[in-house]
Parts: sequence; structure tokens; C-alpha cells
Amino acid sequence: MDSEGMLFKFIKWIFSFCMLTKIVIVAPKLNNFDSNAILNSCEFSCVVASLDKVTTVKEVSDLIQSLADVSFRNEPTVVVGRLGSGINLERFWPNSKPLVVQGGLDRKTVNQSIFIFKRLKKDRTCLLRPHKSLNIPDVAQHKVFSKEMKRSDAVSIAVNIINENCRSFRNVDGSINIGGLHRNEILNNLFQAVKEEIKSHDVSNSQHLQDKKTQYCSNKIFYSSVDGVCKKKNLQDHYDECERIPVPTSFHFFNEYLTQSKPVIITGATEKWPAFQKWTNKFLRAKYGKTRIHIKATPNGEYEGVEDKSLWEGHEHFNIPKQVQEQLLHPDLVVVRPASLDMPFSNFLDLIEDVSKGITVNISAYLEYSSIDDYFPELNSDIKEFDFMHMLKLASLNIWLSDGKTLGKLHFDPFDNLLCQISGEKHVTLFNPHNNERLYEGHIQESQFTYNKSAGSFSRSRLLDSTSMVMSPVDLKRPDLKRFPLFAGTHPLKCSIKAGEVLFMPAFWWHEVQSKPNVTENRNMAVNFWYKPFLTKEFPCAECRLDVNQMYDHLL
Ligand SMILES: *[C@@H]1O[C@H](CO)[C@@H](O)[C@H](O)[C@H]1NC(C)=O
Ligand SMILES: *[C@@H]1O[C@H](CO)[C@@H](O)[C@H](O)[C@H]1NC(C)=O
Ligand SMILES: *[C@@H]1O[C@H](CO)[C@@H](O)[C@H](O)[C@H]1NC(C)=O
Ligand SMILES: *[C@@H]1O[C@H](CO)[C@@H](O)[C@H](O)[C@H]1NC(C)=O
Repeated sequence: MDSEGMLFKFIKWIFSFCMLTKIVIVAPKLNNFDSNAILNSCEFSCVVASLDKVTTVKEVSDLIQSLADVSFRNEPTVVVGRLGSGINLERFWPNSKPLVVQGGLDRKTVNQSIFIFKRLKKDRTCLLRPHKSLNIPDVAQHKVFSKEMKRSDAVSIAVNIINENCRSFRNVDGSINIGGLHRNEILNNLFQAVKEEIKSHDVSNSQHLQDKKTQYCSNKIFYSSVDGVCKKKNLQDHYDECERIPVPTSFHFFNEYLTQSKPVIITGATEKWPAFQKWTNKFLRAKYGKTRIHIKATPNGEYEGVEDKSLWEGHEHFNIPKQVQEQLLHPDLVVVRPASLDMPFSNFLDLIEDVSKGITVNISAYLEYSSIDDYFPELNSDIKEFDFMHMLKLASLNIWLSDGKTLGKLHFDPFDNLLCQISGEKHVTLFNPHNNERLYEGHIQESQFTYNKSAGSFSRSRLLDSTSMVMSPVDLKRPDLKRFPLFAGTHPLKCSIKAGEVLFMPAFWWHEVQSKPNVTENRNMAVNFWYKPFLTKEFPCAECRLDVNQMYDHLL
């Protein structure tokens, strides 16, 4: 073995020794970074560094030492150190590229500055191998010392800057700040459907005992606790119902639902909307009949189901890049996208009316999440945003319209959702996003139905080289527990809304939506508000957990 190999083995040994004996390293030595060390650290953490001790002014040197020894000493997401002496900012990175700083490098103040190298987020959206070129973190330069500044001010200014750039939550003395405490409280109190079960079956025993038993049961994936006794779980009859509340204040909504990621049905919130009386098919046809829209169509009313790839023409020869194929958790499955058709809105109304009357068969058509602003702007005045949601940023406002017999298969959306039923009903089955291993989150190859208009039939001939990142491979109607055994440990929540009701569906909750028509109108219509989510997560990533969206840190 060569000496480098020996050294590596030795370091590995030290590392495993530390892990085994849980040695806490006291008074960490200040890191001395070269650019390779920065790149390595940035995979997991944010790196804060000044120039080397000789180059920086003494105040900055002291400041960095105190950030390392006190403020960020116990903060795993922030690593503090100095750039080694002789660092050349012109040929900084291992590929000899210069250090590029947001807003430009300010040479006059480098001696009074700290540099913040942000954590490199893994790109989960692209399965193709990253380019050969080096993945370099974003870098910010902050002047943390000037003659006018008091030393104590300089430290607290630096801590604030680091918190903001590295998304840490520390006080100068190293304790967790108020925002961080609030965030921890939120993340420790996320709603889980299984907790509701304890309450509804809380008959005699103390809550504590019940909790313990339920925890025990929920570890055993095929069992659950009923009346404090572990029973074999029957997937079919084991739903909890969604809570129903009248219109909440924004304070109540924020604390009880939004921050807890808890679904809830809100009643009486849309009573004043003109939409209910006004938006008949006749009215919509007269106003928007000529507007061209994109609609989705399937043979059987199922939207985005997952099925065997072998059902698709040409699957033996389809060429998906090998490195993509290797990363698919379920390479033998495909997500089936509906056919996409363009037509004037009046033709779409004809189509769903004819389908309802049985004049047209073997097709289901759906106007899915179509932007009201883009396609039906005047409809905006017939509905109203809700006051209780005012703290979130609206991402889009959509309309949904179908013959009322569609089934949207199990998936999640990265938005907080207010789904408002206008006509018909939606029966929504929800699963919380906290154990996504149980729903087998991951990339799944896509395929798409082709519709032959003259034949009036669909074909399975279009495999795609793209992947879906939000669909579960588990078929709720016929779950294959041999293949997806962890699914048995999930606990669904059933939320059914009828006309006039609003379902708050927090971001990343998995949902399957069975629509039902209003039988006199033969249609199902809804609008939904999608908001930038309060709680967010990286995806697709089964083991990644929810966190407060940085964009809402001011609400903490
Ligand atoms: C930074 O400090 C070093 C050493 O004190 C000095 O030689 C250099 O001129 C300073 N650079 C700037 C831009 O002030
Ligand atoms: C509709 O589908 C059924 C079942 O696949 C088939 O038997 C029937 O012939 C189809 N009808 C038409 C008009 O295509
Ligand atoms: C569509 O169906 C018609 C009638 O069955 C057939 O002649 C035609 O080739 C089909 N078109 C395509 C593109 O497959
Ligand atoms: C169905 O629509 C009709 C006509 O708009 C309406 O009067 C009725 O209340 C609706 N039914 C339900 C159950 O909402």
C-alpha cells in the first residue's frame, strides 16, 4: 500500500473511532481552507472564511476566531475558518478560475471582509450526469469591520449576515435565536394523521400510555392501535376524516393549520362568490366559446396513473440514457400522461356534455389547472382571495372543469393549496409527507397517450425520456403490498368537499382525487389557489424532510 493509501486508511480509522465512541471534539481548531477543502465542506455546509491572519486586519481575525469558538461552535450547517496564506484570488478554484463574488469582488475591503461560500444544493431534477465542469458555490463578500464600528456590534452584524446567508439561527453567544426556536417548535409539531387516531380512540387509559402503545404499533407496519390495542390493519376501512371549520382568522389559521401542515376543510368561505350562480356552461360558452384551450384526455378517466412499461409499444427498444435508467427506482414502470389536445372552449364543453349523455364514449376530457388570468381573466372578479391566507405569496390561480368522473392519481404538489369546489364533489385521499419512504417517492419515467381523432381511440405508443418527480408508484385502488410493503404503514386522511367548501391541502401532502359530478349539471368545477409553500422540502427525495421555506423566515 502506498503512503497516501495508508494515510487515507488512518483517517478513516480515526473517523470511525470517533463515531463509535462519540468523542466530542472540544475547542475546534480554526479551519485553514484551500479551495478543495471549501468545495468538500460546501457539500454539507456553508463556509465562512476570512483571508489569512497576516492579511486581514486584526479585528477581522479576532472576529473569525470568536465566530468559530462561540457563535457557530455547535452549528453543523456553518463551518468557519481562514483562507490559507498565499491564496490567489485570480486563480482561486482548482480549475484556476478566479473567485467570483456576488456583486463583484471589492478589493479595497478584502482585509475587512468575510467571505460566505453557500452550501451546494444537490440538483435532484436532472438525472443526467453533471457536466465535467466544476460545480462552484455562490460566494458573498461582506465587510464586517470599519473604524467606526464597535467590536460587539461587528460580531452581531456578522452573525446576522451569516444567519441570513447560511440559513442558520444563532445568537452571538451560540444559543439558538428566537426564529430558530420557533422553527424547531414547528418542525417538532407537524400534524400526522396517526395522532388523530389516538384522540378519537382515547377511551380510558391516560394519554401517555395511549401514545406509547400507538408508537409501538405504528412501528409494526401492518398493525395499528385501536382502543389502545394493536390490531391488524385493514387498509380499506382505516380512514380518518378531515376536520371542518368555519372561516378562521389568519392568526388561528397560521398557528393551527399552516405551520402544522394540517389539512382542513373550511365552510362558508365562498358564500358571497358570484361564480356559483354565474358560471353556467351557457354563460361560459357565450363568453369564452372561441378561446383556444389545452385540455387533457384519457380513455378511462384516470389521470397520471402508473403502469407496467411493457404495455407500451416499442418498450424493448426505447432508448433512455443509461445513467438515467440506473437511477430510476422502478425502471419497469411508467407514469401515463394524458393526451394533450388543443381546441376552442366551446368544443370542449360539447365534448364533456356529449360524454355525459353517452353520445361520445371511451374518452374522458379534463380542463386541468388552467390559469384564470391567462385564459378567463374576467372570471377573476367572481371569486375572491381569502383573508386568512394573506401572509403567503400567491403562485397561481386555476380553474378545473370536467364531466365529473375523473380520477387524479396519487401525487403531491410543491404548493400550499386552497381547493374551492364550485360544482360537484371531490373525494380526496391524503397522506402526510413525513415518511415518504412509504410512498416510494422518486423519479418515474413518463409516457403519454396519443389520441387518434378520426378513430376515436387512444394508443400507448409514446414513451418519453423525461421523468415525473411527484407521482407515487403505489396504486391506491390495488396496492401491491408485496412490491410496496412500506405502504401498509401509511395512514390516510379522507377529505371530501362539496360545492361551496374549501379544502386547505398543505404542500407536499400526497393526494388522490376522485371527482363526482353535480348530477343536474353533469360536471365538476373547481378553482384553486396555489401559494408558495410555507413548509417546503427537496424533491424527489424520500428521506428529505419538511422545513420552513426561507422566503417566510420573517414570519418566525
Ligand atoms: C491588506 O493588508 C495587508 C497586510 O496588512 C497589506 O499589505 C495590504 O496592502 C492590505 N490590502 C488592502 C487592499 O488594504
Ligand atoms: C369502447 O371501449 C369498449 C371497451 O374497450 C369497447 O368494447 C367498445 O367497442 C368501445 N366503443 C367504441 C365506440 O369505440
Ligand atoms: C387513425 O385512425 C385511422 C382510422 O382507424 C387510421 O386510418 C389512421 O392511420 C390513424 N392515424 C394514426 C396517425 O395512427
Ligand atoms: C347542482 O347544480 C344545481 C344547478 O346549479 C344546483 O341547484 C344544485 O344545488 C347542485 N347540487 C348540489 C348537490 O350541489
